[in-house]
Amino acid sequence: MNFSDQIINWYNQNKRDLPWRNTTDAYTIWLSEIILQQTRVEQGMPYFYRFLENYPAVADFAAADEDDILRLWQGLGYYSRGRNMLATARLVNEKYQGRFPNKYEDLIRLKGIGEYTAAAISSFAANEARAVVDGNVYRVLARYFGIDEPINSTKGKKLFQETADKLLNQQHAGLHNQAMMELGAMICKPKNPACGICPVREGCHAFLHNATAQLPVKLKKLKVRERYLNYFLYTDGEQILINKRGTGDIWTNLHDLPSVETLEYLEPYEVLKQPESVRYFGNSPVLLQVAGPIKHVLTHQRLTVNFIVLKDNPISLKKEWFFIEVENLKNLGMPQIIFIFLTNFFKFKNNFPVHD
Ligand code: ADE
Repeated sequence: MNFSDQIINWYNQNKRDLPWRNTTDAYTIWLSEIILQQTRVEQGMPYFYRFLENYPAVADFAAADEDDILRLWQGLGYYSRGRNMLATARLVNEKYQGRFPNKYEDLIRLKGIGEYTAAAISSFAANEARAVVDGNVYRVLARYFGIDEPINSTKGKKLFQETADKLLNQQHAGLHNQAMMELGAMICKPKNPACGICPVREGCHAFLHNATAQLPVKLKKLKVRERYLNYFLYTDGEQILINKRGTGDIWTNLHDLPSVETLEYLEPYEVLKQPESVRYFGNSPVLLQVAGPIKHVLTHQRLTVNFIVLKDNPISLKKEWFFIEVENLKNLGMPQIIFIFLTNFFKFKNNFPVHD
């Protein structure tokens, strides 16, 4: 028996009886697949029943109000899924006269339907020979074939799709896909896989090499950090207060302006109430002008920057702060965003945005 026959045999004997598996209706399958994106089966099940009961056909869904859809969706998260569904239901209702498409090439054009979902619907509903690749399938393939290419790299995605395509049972694509996903969900689990009862363990690289914990490989996505920088400008037109940056943060050893960082976006008048602001600038500094907020993207950080022009000198200075002649600013190493602000400020001073 080849791989596909083995998993289909296993599936036929061991599958969970899930409601969307007893139908070839593309609309019903679409409902289930969108709900199950980013959602566990047990959590998604009541939502699936609720949607099907309220909207038994795509025409019913298309006639719904967005508010009704979002209310039914409540608790599932990723609300754009619900909104995309409504847009798709309306389009399908018009373009396909209420008959939900079951061909991959039609499905992939619809909002909210990507390669996985188009392959799932077309293979489950019409047995079209399209191999699904979801998290479960990545795991099964990586372990069975010993593929250590990261599943979230461009090369890895291509390799896994090609591997899944080659393995696909052309006659029973729907069954094969369901079986792959069920094997991944029930046996080839992320932690503590049940290799002891796996139907394909004898050919499985990871089982034979004791490597299930190492596969699949996933590249860690570096999280983008959001930061809110509030810069203060003090100048009498001749001198300007500058900050010399240190090490261990962005812009090592460059020069910028005195600043207060906040954990969320605050309007400048709120920034001035922060304890750190009060310590350096007193209780009621006079705010002359504001420029921003300006978004500035670095490799792993997204900065939101406001420049706040204040009237009077600070009441105390940090040791990193010093005054310099405006005409000597050009001699300092500065991040581009600060340099551009200062250049514009001194060039257009009289027309600079005035804070109201
Ligand atoms: N998760 C996503 N689609 C699924 C399906 N058709 N059956 C079980 N789990 C799933």
